[in-house]
Amino acid sequence: MPIGLEPKVCQKSVELLNQALADTITLRDLYKKHHWQVSGHTFYQLHLLFDKHAEEQNELVDLIAERIQLLGGVSVAMAPDVAEMTRIPRPPIGREEVPVQVSRLLEAHEIILRACHEGAKAADDAGDDGTNDLFVSDVMRTNELQAWFVSEHVVDTPVVKAK
Ligand SMILES: [Fe+2]
Repeated sequence: MPIGLEPKVCQKSVELLNQALADTITLRDLYKKHHWQVSGHTFYQLHLLFDKHAEEQNELVDLIAERIQLLGGVSVAMAPDVAEMTRIPRPPIGREEVPVQVSRLLEAHEIILRACHEGAKAADDAGDDGTNDLFVSDVMRTNELQAWFVSEHVVDTPVVKAK
C-alpha cells in the first residue's frame, strides 16, 4: 500500500488490530446477549444502555476492520474465527444475573483496554501514527467511557435514609 509505511510495520499493526477486532466483535456480541437477556428491576435502563454500547462497539468493529484492509491485511470476520482468536472468556448460552453480566462486561473492557495501551505504544514506536490514533482516540476512549457507565452500576452506594 502506498501509504508511507514499511511492509513490516503494516504487518505488525495488522496483527495487533486483528486481535483488537476479534475482541471488539466479541464484546459487541456480549452486549447484545446481555441486552436481550437482562432482567430484574434495572431491566429497562440496562436494556437501553447495553444496546447503545453494542452499537458503539459495532462502529469500532468497522473502523478497526477497514484499517486492517488499508494496511494490506485481511480482517478476521466470521464467528468461528473470532471465537478462536478472542481472549474474552466465553459466557454460557443461558441467562445470567445482572451482577454477573456487569462483571463479565467489565472484564472484557479491561482485556481490550490493556491491549489498547500496548497496541498504541507498539504502533507509536513503529511510526504507525494512524493505528496509534485509532487505538487511542477510538478504541481506548470508547471502552474507557463504557467501562465507567457500566461500573457505576456496582458502586457500593450507601442507602439514603429519609428522616
Ligand atoms: Fe433490541
